Amino acid sequence: MRDRYAVVGNPVAHSRSPQIHAEFARATGQDLEYGLIEAPLDGFERTVEEFRRQGGKGLNVTVPFKEAAFRYCRKASRRAQAAQVVNTLVLSASEVLGDTTDGIGLVTDLTRNIGFDLGGKKLLLMGAGGAAQGVVQALLDAGVSQLMVANRTMSRALALAARHGVEACGYEELQGRSFDVVVNATSAGLASDAPGLPDSAFKPGALAYDMVYGLDTPFLVQARAAGARAFDGLGMLVEQAAESFFVWRGVRPDTRALLARLRSGQAL
Ligand code: ATR
Repeated sequence: MRDRYAVVGNPVAHSRSPQIHAEFARATGQDLEYGLIEAPLDGFERTVEEFRRQGGKGLNVTVPFKEAAFRYCRKASRRAQAAQVVNTLVLSASEVLGDTTDGIGLVTDLTRNIGFDLGGKKLLLMGAGGAAQGVVQALLDAGVSQLMVANRTMSRALALAARHGVEACGYEELQGRSFDVVVNATSAGLASDAPGLPDSAFKPGALAYDMVYGLDTPFLVQARAAGARAFDGLGMLVEQAAESFFVWRGVRPDTRALLARLRSGQAL
């Protein structure tokens, strides 16, 4: 039987992970299958246990289960412990290892694909939910000089910032502050809502990055109008997938050609 992997979420039907992993497997000659699993909102653990009992080797975990996956795994990697969220599970009969590849996925997209050096840069991270949690440590490791967490609900921003020893604020306190990089980790764009950022937050020539992909979110529209270079999260999606693939298979797939094809809308 071929080794089985899947992405688990709710909703999950829109996920491009099966396509991406099928392409990685083809390109690296790995014999595996990768499916989609929609878990009931109250049934994450049950669903994963069933998959593991059937011999499933690994899962990607997406919204809204990343925190549940961290609680569920028996061992967590260093980066998963820092993030307290898990997007990659390595499964065997005796082991459930949790890992987090979102942070390295974002940093790899910013630095290698976009060619932006994060070293010494001032960065604003908008949001303090699971998506934001997953990337803070990797951004700090990439050498930013300042990382400010802004969130609508201040208490969540404070909690996340305190865990990493960085600053936090509410959106109204951003007046008069500007940044080299602004990363949107809120889910506001999905509801065609803008998170309430002043245009002055973008330094001239700043880079704006929305972790959401496939949508021109109000954040990206605002960033471009304010003179920033704006990118969606497609590159992060592909890079986090490549890192998960490496965690599972020990083989690092090439991402550039695949990303170019996805960007141009070509079928894989
Ligand atoms: P995820 O796992 O996608 O991060 P989450 O944990 O529910 O999901 O977090 C959603 C994030 O988007 C939060 O930072 C949330 O802000 P609150 O903590 O104040 O709820 C943010 N968010 C969602 N809708 C928003 C909106 N319309 N404006 C501003 N922030 C929003």
